[in-house]
Amino acid sequence: MLELKGLSFSVVEKNENGEEKRRDIIDAMDFTFEAGKFYAITGPNGSGKTTLSRLIMGINQPTAGRIFFEGKDITGMTITERATAGISYSFQQPARFKGVTFRDLLSVAAKTEKEEKLLEIVRRVGICPLSFLDKPVDSTLSGGEIKKIELATTIARNPKLAIYDEPDTGIDLWTIMPMVNLLKKEQIEHKTTTIVVSHNRSFLDVADDILIVDHGKLRYHGNLKNALPMLNDFRICSFNPCPEGEQDAQCFR
Ligand SMILES: Nc1ncnc2c1ncn2[C@@H]1O[C@H](COP(=O)(O)OP(=O)(O)OP(=O)(O)O)[C@@H](O)[C@H]1O
Ligand SMILES: [Mg+2]
Repeated sequence: MLELKGLSFSVVEKNENGEEKRRDIIDAMDFTFEAGKFYAITGPNGSGKTTLSRLIMGINQPTAGRIFFEGKDITGMTITERATAGISYSFQQPARFKGVTFRDLLSVAAKTEKEEKLLEIVRRVGICPLSFLDKPVDSTLSGGEIKKIELATTIARNPKLAIYDEPDTGIDLWTIMPMVNLLKKEQIEHKTTTIVVSHNRSFLDVADDILIVDHGKLRYHGNLKNALPMLNDFRICSFNPCPEGEQDAQCFR
C-alpha cells in the first residue's frame, strides 16, 4: 500500500575545515509496506527514523526517489493532499497552539462537532473527556498530555495509514501498555496500516514487522526474534562515530 523507491534525503553540511560535504540522512531506501500490517521502525538516535516518517507525510521533500501510496505516485503531493488520501501523522514533538482547544483540533480531525462522537473518540484513547475536551492546546499542557491529544487527533481521522513518531515519549508507565493495545486494536478493527517509530520493546512485541534504520539505511526488516541480536549488538560508537581523537573521551562501550 506504501512503496518507497530509492528514497533519499540529503543535506549539505560543513566540516571542521569549512568544506561542504553531502550527508545522506535517508540513503536510497526501498521498501513496501503492506496494507493492514503493524510496523515498528526502530534504530539509534539520529539514524533517520523521524526524517523517514516526515518524508512519507510530505513534511520534508526527498532529494531523490519516489513514494507510491495505493499505487499512486504521491511524491509531489502536499501534506494536505496526502492527508486527504488517508495518511495521518503524529509528531514526535507536537505543536502547541495558543487559543485553540483540544475540542477544536478533534472536531477538525473527526470532521464533526457532535459532542457524542467527540466523547466517544476521547474515551477510546483513555482520556477523561470532561476534564480534557476544553483544555487549551498550549504551553500549559504537560508533555504526556500533549502526546495523548496528538494520538487522539490522529485516530480521529480514521486514516488508512497512521504514522506515530515515538507516541510513548513522556507517557506515564500506566498508559504505555493501554496505548500499545489501543494502536493494535485500531490496526485490527479498522485495518489501519500502522507505522510506529519507537524504542519501546512493547511496540516491537506487537509489530508484524520490525524495520531497523541505521545511518539512513534500512538494515533489517523481519520478525523480532531475528531482530534482537542486531539490536543487542548496537553500541553507541558503532553508529555515531566520534571524530578522530575524541573517541576515548566521548564514546561509551
Ligand atoms: N533538515 C535537516 N537538515 C540537517 N540535518 C537534518 C535535517 N533533518 C534531520 N537532520 C539530521 O538527520 C539525523 C537524523 O534525524 P532524525 O530526526 O531523523 O533521527 P531519529 O532517528 O528520528 O532520531 P531520534 O531517535 O533521536 O528521534 C540527525 O542527525 C538530524 O540532526
Ligand atoms: Mg526521531
